[in-house]
Amino acid sequence: MSADPNHPQSEPEFRPHTYDGIREFNKRLPNWWLFTLYGAIVFWIAYWSYYEWFRVEPEGPAGIQLAMTRIEAAKLAATAAANLNDKSLWEMSRNPVIVEEGSKTFQSNCIPCHLASLRGKHESPAAIGPDLTDQYWIHGGNPLDLYRTVTEGVPIKGMPTWGPVLGARRISEAVAFVLSYHKEGEPMLVDPSVLPAK
Ligand code: HEC
Repeated sequence: MSADPNHPQSEPEFRPHTYDGIREFNKRLPNWWLFTLYGAIVFWIAYWSYYEWFRVEPEGPAGIQLAMTRIEAAKLAATAAANLNDKSLWEMSRNPVIVEEGSKTFQSNCIPCHLASLRGKHESPAAIGPDLTDQYWIHGGNPLDLYRTVTEGVPIKGMPTWGPVLGARRISEAVAFVLSYHKEGEPMLVDPSVLPAK
């Protein structure tokens, strides 16, 4: 039986069990070891609740995808601010981060008249805004036409002038959100309500 190497003077104290002839000193675990263990438990709870229970941020490939989409959104927003055109608005309409921002602007400003479904009059006669999901357009269906209609409005018909209220960035996002219901290259038809009466 060998003495406790840390305290050569004291009689070594052993725990009662023996496995395969191996006996264990009855000693407290060192503090650094305990703190590492408790720290790992606290880290585990924080990590697991962040990523798994509350799903604050997606992990792995989905997290990378989200980060890339955000970078792309920032680049597109910068392009759109410098040079807004049909192409950049279509690209924005395919970026989920921008579409999500546009959706928020739409929810808080546009649904009284166009409804949350964007189908307006088509869904309910009480809504005064036209359907923004069909292929008929009163003021043109190109992205820049939508942008102009929203910015300038059609005050005599009840469509407010949003330019001074929302500003260019939020309007381009709202237009991208409307465009996300459409496909580039789809037919754009003239709304029958603006054709001359037969
Ligand atoms: C107070 C009611 C009202 C609100 C709020 C409203 N609109 Fe409109 N909107 C209309 C009406 C009415 C028209 C049709 C104008 C016309 O007949 O010329 C219209 C037309 C449009 C058009 C053109 C549709 C076409 O066929 O050419 C777009 C795009 C549009 N709105 C987007 C928006 C967006 C985006 C918002 C929120 C930022 C919004 N609208 C908020 C009433 C509204």
